[in-house]
Amino acid sequence: MKNESRFATIIGTGFKVPEQTLSNEDLSRMVETDNEWIVSRTGIRNRYIASKDDTPWSLGAYAAKMALEAAKVRPNDLDAIIVATCTNDAPFPSAACRIQASIGASTAYCYDVSAACSGFIYGLHVANMEIATGRKNVLLVGADTMTRNIDYTDRSTCIIFGDGASAAVLQESPQPGIIDISLGSDGTQAELLKHVQDPRTRAFEGKTYAPLPSIKMEGRPVLRFATRVMVDSCLEYIDRYKLDKNHLCIVPHQANQRIIDAAADKLQMQPYSNIDRFGNTSAASCGIALHECVQKGVIKNGDHAFLVAMGAGLTWGYALMRWNGTPE
Ligand code: UT7
Repeated sequence: MKNESRFATIIGTGFKVPEQTLSNEDLSRMVETDNEWIVSRTGIRNRYIASKDDTPWSLGAYAAKMALEAAKVRPNDLDAIIVATCTNDAPFPSAACRIQASIGASTAYCYDVSAACSGFIYGLHVANMEIATGRKNVLLVGADTMTRNIDYTDRSTCIIFGDGASAAVLQESPQPGIIDISLGSDGTQAELLKHVQDPRTRAFEGKTYAPLPSIKMEGRPVLRFATRVMVDSCLEYIDRYKLDKNHLCIVPHQANQRIIDAAADKLQMQPYSNIDRFGNTSAASCGIALHECVQKGVIKNGDHAFLVAMGAGLTWGYALMRWNGTPE
C-alpha cells in the first residue's frame, strides 16, 4: 500500500554508448539510401553500434556507475536495481542481476522490465513504486542493443536504431520529485512493430547459418501514433498541473525528429532533441536525453521535466517530475 508521505526524486543520471559509430554515409554504402533522405525523414545523422562484447548490461553498468557517482550513493546502499530492456543477451539471468555483479551492489534485489522504447518510463513507474513502498535508493537503467536485431537489408528500419544505456538513481525524499506517471498499452496493435525470427537461412563459405532475428515495423502508423501520444500527453499534463512553459523541459523519446517538430509546432515550445547524434536508442533514449538536459543546464533546479515515450506493444508512458538537483 502506498504511504502518501513517501516521495521519490532523481538525484543522479548517467549514460553510455558503444565506441563504434555508423553514419548515414556508412549506411548508404550498405542499402539504397542517402544522407539527405535519412536527415530529412528522421533527423538522424549518426548512431552508435554495439561491438560483439557490448550488451545492455555491460553498457548499463557504465551508465549506472556514472549515475551513482553523481548521486553520491554507494552501490551497497542500493535497495533495488531495475533494468528496462528488450534486447538483453539472454532471457536469464536478468540484465539487472548482471549489473548488480558489475557494480558490486550486493544488498539490492534485481529485475528487468520490458516495454520496448517505452521502457524507461515503465521502469520509472516501478522504481517510483519501490520508493513509495519503503525502499530508499533505487537504480533504474534503460538499455538496449537494438542493432543486434536489425536486418541491414531493410532500409526502413536499419537507418533508425542505435545502441546505448542510461541510468537514474531515485531516492526517497520529503518533497515530490516524481509528481505523476501515466502508462498505456494497446496489444491489438502489436503487429505494427515487432521482433521476428527472419525465415531466411544464411549461407556463408559453404555453411548454412541459423536465421537471425530482425525488427519489422510499419513506419507510417507508428509515426502517427507516436506524434499523437506526444502532443496529447503533454497538453494533458500542462493543463492538469498548470505548468509554466518557461520552467518546463520536454524530454521525449527520440524516435523521429518529425515527431518532435510536430509536437513543437502544436505546443509552441521546443522539446529536447539529440536524435541527430544517437538515433533511436529504445529504452535508453529518454534517460540519455534527461542526462544531457541536466548536464547542459537545460533543466535547472526547481524546473519541471516532462518525459514521454512510445514504442512496440504498442506501449506508451509519460511522467512529470520536478528537478530537485544532485547532492552537493
Ligand atoms: O521507437 C518506437 C517508435 N518508432 C517510431 O515512432 C518510428 C516511426 N516511423 C518513422 O520514423 C518513419 O515512418 C520512417 C522513418 C520509418 C519512414 O519514414 P516515412 O516518411 O514514414 O516513409 P515511408 O515508410 O512512408 O516511405 C516513403 C518512401 C517509400 O518509397 P515509395 O514507396 O514512396 O517509392 C520507401 O520505400 O521512402 C522509401 N524509403 C526510403 N528511401 C530512402 C524508406 N526508407 C528509406 C530509406 N532511404 N532509408
